[in-house]
Amino acid sequence: MRSFTSPGRGPSTGSDHCSDHALLVCQDPTLSERFFKEVLDFYPTERVQPELESEQCMATWLSAGQKIHDIAILGGPVQGKLHHFAFQLEDWSKVLRAADIISMDDISLDIGPTRHGITRGETIYFFDPAGNRNEVFAGGYRAYPDRPCVVWTPDQLAKGIFYHDRVLNEAFTTVWT
Ligand SMILES: [Fe+2]
Repeated sequence: MRSFTSPGRGPSTGSDHCSDHALLVCQDPTLSERFFKEVLDFYPTERVQPELESEQCMATWLSAGQKIHDIAILGGPVQGKLHHFAFQLEDWSKVLRAADIISMDDISLDIGPTRHGITRGETIYFFDPAGNRNEVFAGGYRAYPDRPCVVWTPDQLAKGIFYHDRVLNEAFTTVWT
């Protein structure tokens, strides 16, 4: 039986493993955003729009408090799918530590460690044994309802998602569960 305890990992304190957000996939992200805004009192912190002046969105990052996002919604060809959920880590050093653990245990890596342009968060994506994409996420800036929403356009999307590589890998845009 496979052990997930690697030498040098050390005991978990449990203090840095809370969930942070989830990214959902749907066919009409503008309608889903409206639901989260009008019914659940979220507000958008960042959006990808077809053009700078548009009510429509192709993706949206929504907060219910002061986190940069609690829920994000991505437009796609399917309804009601999970793109990923994320665990909150304290800072970049903890993200690098997570990368070490992912390598020590030969976990299926999607991408990272790297930084998002959108949210400014620091990130790694990886797959759990069931095939769900997980993320470890740190950083980002504090959100306020009266702060203007940051708008991205499709030509900047790859840079917005992966700020350093500026390329979307195939798995990132085609795998959801
Ligand atoms: Fe995320």
